[in-house]
Amino acid sequence: MPVKIIVGAQWGDEGKGKITDILAEKVDLVVRYQGGNNAGHTVVVGDETFKLHLIPSGILNDKCQCVIGNGVVLDPEVLFHEIATLEKQNIKVTPEKFKISSIAHIILPFHKQLDSMQETGRGDDAKIGTTGRGIGPAYTDKVSRMGVRVLDLLSKETLSKKLHDRNWPAVLGIADLNVDEVVETYYALGQRLRPFIIDSSLFINDAIDQGKTMILEGAQGTMLDVDHGTYPYVTSSNPISGGACIGAGIGPHKIDQVIGVTKAYVTRVGEGPFPTELICETGEFLRIKGAEFGTTTNRPRRCGWLDLVGLRYAVRVNGITEICLTKLDVLDGVETIKVCTHYLLNGEKVYHFPLDVEKFSKCEPVYDDIRGWDEDISQITDFDALPLAAKNYVQYISEAIGVKITLVSVGSKRNQTIHLLQKKV
Ligand code: GDP
Ligand code: IMO
Ligand code: MG
Repeated sequence: MPVKIIVGAQWGDEGKGKITDILAEKVDLVVRYQGGNNAGHTVVVGDETFKLHLIPSGILNDKCQCVIGNGVVLDPEVLFHEIATLEKQNIKVTPEKFKISSIAHIILPFHKQLDSMQETGRGDDAKIGTTGRGIGPAYTDKVSRMGVRVLDLLSKETLSKKLHDRNWPAVLGIADLNVDEVVETYYALGQRLRPFIIDSSLFINDAIDQGKTMILEGAQGTMLDVDHGTYPYVTSSNPISGGACIGAGIGPHKIDQVIGVTKAYVTRVGEGPFPTELICETGEFLRIKGAEFGTTTNRPRRCGWLDLVGLRYAVRVNGITEICLTKLDVLDGVETIKVCTHYLLNGEKVYHFPLDVEKFSKCEPVYDDIRGWDEDISQITDFDALPLAAKNYVQYISEAIGVKITLVSVGSKRNQTIHLLQKKV
């Protein structure tokens, strides 16, 4: 299958980085199509841990080229820091291996200031709990047609005009803001970006025409999608599969597979409703056992039981053709695993994901009980060797959502993976 999309089926942090890294072994290209350095993907290779925010998770595979697509918002300072960190870990990030779309939008320091001012302004009751990386303000400028793109950094005149026209001192309410200093800094960053800059849509489509294989890598997840997520508690881009065509500049008929990544339970970082959240010892157990602390902000992730209403919704809005199920090992030792089959709202049964966040916040989960297992499954690489209860859980999920599960992850390392392509799950 030449072109696969990898998409988060929950609220992000599903383990997309690990899955992309594994599947990247067999592809020529990995393209990030949206989001920015609000993403944090931890990928473990042998004894080395890599933390990626902007660079696609294919970078750890020697033969794989990586592209930042036009749909991404790029913070150049963060990018160069990430490149330096990778190089210290002996991963070379050369222009041959890594490319950046000329029309991706730039996150400026002003966007970060605005992000933090907006969060403070919302107050405790209405805050979103953003990552503070300037994502929302950068995408707002993009759709308001006031954004700065990668190619704008290459001309000091254009950059200066754009930054002055935007009138940042007025926007931020800071009269003595030194805009010219930012022009100088970002022009210099543009010069450093220059060798990596390409027409990414042309490059990606040429690669498809040459029969190359690729992954379009989504950041965040379905429930954080600005259109289809739990608005307004969402990010400012479209992580769902539909966003991949826009953010990579390819036609929908070029997509062969949509791989949804889901944890065996659910986590969420930041504010917003979460019906199956466990504010109890079990939630704490999942957080500690699953090391559920944000890769980007180190905030504790909220943890809860698997939610089939949300997962079926993710299957629908993404057109998911197969599922990778991660972190099954975290459930080792849980006597009874609960799975939310539907909600109750004012006494009515709800099977479809409610689009009104007020209603969603009042939904009460209704659970099926599934028997757990005691064994440590983290070293198992063959599905048949899993305890019967673990196999049943995997099969139960697959049947409940009507999608095959092709990979089960039982640990953060590459070899802690069960491939199921030949099996009927
Ligand atoms: P992403 O943003 O979707 O790439 O996910 P993150 O990297 O933010 O969070 C997933 C975390 O779980 C990372 O620390 C991974 O190393 C880790 N991880 C991935 N798969 C598994 C798994 O199957 N079991 C366990 N225990 N950890 C995993
Ligand atoms: P990965 O790619 C989990 C959440 C933030 C906040 C909301 C809006 O690692 O799965 P933003 O800074 O984007 O304006 O914040 O979105 N969020 C994520 N949560 N994983 C992520 O990325 C996230 N990126 C943003 O916590 O609730
Ligand atoms: Mg993450």
